[in-house]
Amino acid sequence: MTPSQYNPVTPAIARLLEDIVGKRNVVFGDAEKLEPYSHDEIAEAHYAHMPEAAVRPETAEQIAAVMRLANEECIPVTPRGAGSGLSGGAVPVHGGIVLLTDRLNHILEIDPENMMIVAEPGVVTNEINEKLKPYGLFYAGYPMSLETCFLGGNVAENAGGGKAVKYGVTGRYVTGLEVVTPTGDLIQLGGKLVKDVTGYNLLQLMVGSEGTLGIFTKVTLKLLPLPKASVDLLCLFKTPEAAISAVPKLMTESGTIPTAIEFMDQTSVRAACEYLNESIPYEDAGAMLLITFDGADEEQVIREYDAAGEQCLEAGAFEVYVADNATTSERIWKVRRNIAEAFKVISPHQSLEDIVVPIAAIPKVVTGLLEIAAEYDIQIPCYGHAGDGNLHATPVMNPDWTLDEWREKLPLILTKIYLLTASLGGTISGEHGIGHKRLPFMSIVMDEAQLNMMRAIKRGLDPNNILNPGKLFEL
Ligand code: LAC
Ligand code: ZN
Repeated sequence: MTPSQYNPVTPAIARLLEDIVGKRNVVFGDAEKLEPYSHDEIAEAHYAHMPEAAVRPETAEQIAAVMRLANEECIPVTPRGAGSGLSGGAVPVHGGIVLLTDRLNHILEIDPENMMIVAEPGVVTNEINEKLKPYGLFYAGYPMSLETCFLGGNVAENAGGGKAVKYGVTGRYVTGLEVVTPTGDLIQLGGKLVKDVTGYNLLQLMVGSEGTLGIFTKVTLKLLPLPKASVDLLCLFKTPEAAISAVPKLMTESGTIPTAIEFMDQTSVRAACEYLNESIPYEDAGAMLLITFDGADEEQVIREYDAAGEQCLEAGAFEVYVADNATTSERIWKVRRNIAEAFKVISPHQSLEDIVVPIAAIPKVVTGLLEIAAEYDIQIPCYGHAGDGNLHATPVMNPDWTLDEWREKLPLILTKIYLLTASLGGTISGEHGIGHKRLPFMSIVMDEAQLNMMRAIKRGLDPNNILNPGKLFEL
């Protein structure tokens, strides 16, 4: 279906939407009120697209009714959580209706006996662990935007984050989903089971589907016992190459799996410190590693971080700071969590990437990025989840260039970065997804046979291609 085959949201359709969700939960014909729903957290303005209407349903049944109407009328619907995405997943590229999930914001059930929680998609991720503290349980998802992002978006993007080295990504914890299908049916996938091989794994097909296959209305998550001990190491290195070279060794030779191994180059740390008016020692460090250990046994955690600290010193770290209390840890992690936001403030003309390679290849990514930066005469600051092989390389426009030059060169720079990643056995997105931002680059890492399999799934579930069209691949 081409864009022109979609129908517009007319005043009559807007009235039907009002009948479903209530008059004050529809925005129509008010550009100023619709503008916030035209973009996500991507810095560059040209990725934005205006919706024609926004709806704020309160229940799964209302969402199903909106989908049935949209299907009949052939109007695109783009689901949107907190809008904290970084690949344009929530951007309505064909206009139509943006469907907001912020009113579905309840934790429905805490089930300590099964170590599960059931929550609606509009719950802010951080809220889950606040609520779980009294139960001695926690949810292991730790996206860097946890103070603002929604659970539904985490599931839609299969969010990674800061603790995935030890705990894995969102999908590992999703055992059940209630989903409104593109054609307006309400289905239950999975439940509170930790094992389930009954038929195709539709549950995990939905996880990471970027809002193209269904709209989540309930999420069941597996919980873990809250660790009793947690320590962070901040290891300072002279150069990015020295810091990153320590990572594969930390992963394979320490005899343990750290909770996190985050890499931050000097530009990244400086930007976040200035943005937060915070100070951590970065002046002499070309890069640093933030390494976390947690567990039930304090002595074991001490043994583990001692060994990792030694390994970093052997690998050339000139300073290893230990943060063994929650206040200091949070200060450092806050700096880490705010790097992306800090860069956005410094320059909107940038491209926040989330390339991923097998962990043994990660030093080669950093040296390759330095070469690409030199070749194109730009800065590519870099930080990210080094223990997962997942780095946020961020090409920033050379301030001497015109905007036109930047627009022309960026696709070439990105292609170079993606080819580098692919040559190391990696791929173009480890955690932010494809959205419409990376759609033009999918063929670098996916052949037609794979793309056709995805297209077949999409066509099968969404025959009119109305749910979040224009994402991942061209139909
Ligand atoms: C981070 C986001 C950008 O890791 O994924 O900071
Ligand atoms: Zn990240």
